[in-house]
Amino acid sequence: MGEQPVAPMVSGMVSTRESTARLVTEFSTDSRCCLASTLWSPLRLGTIGRGPDERVESAHRRELREEAMEYRTVGRTGVKVSSLCFGTMSFGDAADEVESARMFRRCLDAGINFFDCANVYAGGRSEEILGDLMAELRDELIITSKVFGPVGSDINARGLSRRHIVQAVEATLRRLKTDRLDFYFVHQFDYETPMEETIRALDELVRRGLVLYPAVSNWSAWQIVKALGVSERDRLARFELIQPMYNLTKRQAEVEILPMAEGEQLGVIPYSPLGGGLLTGKYGSETRPSSGRLVENKMYMKRYGMDSYYEIAERFTAYARAEGVHPATMAVAWVGSHPAVTAPIIGARNVQQLEPSLAAARFEMTPEMRSKIADLTPEVAPAHDRREERLRNTF
Ligand SMILES: NC(=O)c1ccc[n+]([C@@H]2O[C@H](COP(=O)([O-])OP(=O)(O)OC[C@H]3O[C@@H](n4cnc5c(N)ncnc54)[C@H](OP(=O)(O)O)[C@@H]3O)[C@@H](O)[C@H]2O)c1
Repeated sequence: MGEQPVAPMVSGMVSTRESTARLVTEFSTDSRCCLASTLWSPLRLGTIGRGPDERVESAHRRELREEAMEYRTVGRTGVKVSSLCFGTMSFGDAADEVESARMFRRCLDAGINFFDCANVYAGGRSEEILGDLMAELRDELIITSKVFGPVGSDINARGLSRRHIVQAVEATLRRLKTDRLDFYFVHQFDYETPMEETIRALDELVRRGLVLYPAVSNWSAWQIVKALGVSERDRLARFELIQPMYNLTKRQAEVEILPMAEGEQLGVIPYSPLGGGLLTGKYGSETRPSSGRLVENKMYMKRYGMDSYYEIAERFTAYARAEGVHPATMAVAWVGSHPAVTAPIIGARNVQQLEPSLAAARFEMTPEMRSKIADLTPEVAPAHDRREERLRNTF
């Protein structure tokens, strides 16, 4: 699947003020509102990741973007994000600076205003590249980063102690060349630091204006709910957004995490909607590509090591092809169609890979199709074993 054809260029562009006015007037109160408008000023967009001859945006492209992208509110924050978030884990790693810029630019064209990052991606290079790319548009973008993983040989350069969190956020802001993060994730649970210590440290970042909203990834439901209780008890800034792993082969989040998010009004941005590439059509029971994360990266080889994952991938690919849809489009749309999900985080190593994931924004997943696809995987065990009294489907 290639890049979209370049449409003829025209000169009738919308000014920043006009586009902002349209954004305001077309606002809907529905939390999953579709803003038939754009956040982007084509003039400012024009300088990012494209040559001087491409600086005029085509009306055709703008219309495509306006029709396709839906914007959703993150939990109870009032912040509106595109229904797809772009993950920058490949920046400075599988994608060099030129390819990163092309993907960033393509995401903006598609109406994405939401970019996920972490201090450990490509040893900090991902934040640097994103920082360069977003410089002109900072105020119109929603930017995240994360803290937890080791960032040096120092015994304290890791984890969720107040000491490390403060150092980590300052380094992240330097690399991103910004003075604040919209959402700041604790990347994993730290069993060696009391939760209260971490929550208080995050609250201080909020008070200093370095972070707007604390957020959490890879914690279990009980850990998150306990943290919400601590925040409420001590009147501290609470987690407003979660980032669980979730895709057709990894459905554990349906049992506790996603219902918890709905109950607690938390935004949800699941990562690995394609299972790191498993659900893109290139993997099957007996099929492996010559290169790719699941055949090269030890952590992912272990995460997706069981044969049953490849059997699901094969069944799913056959289903998607029979429906005439790229498997990646269908896999991302499937994750995005869970009612608790705000925006799946899509990932790619180049623009060509990115296209089918972007197409998920335009794909309508009916409840019938969602449940047919879910039936391609084993049933997810409920949170307790009184199955016969289950009141709700787990989707
Ligand atoms: N919080 C966390 O712990 C955590 C963990 C992981 C990711 N994340 C975030 O979530 C984002 C997305 O995660 P992810 O990269 O795992 O998402 P994903 O969408 O499941 O996997 C993306 C990978 O699939 C392959 N791929 C994508 N489109 C393809 C296509 N059309 N054809 C063939 N292969 C294709 C590529 O890998 P290959 O080319 O190598 O096959 C690509 O890097 C990351 O960038 C990061 O921001 C967070």
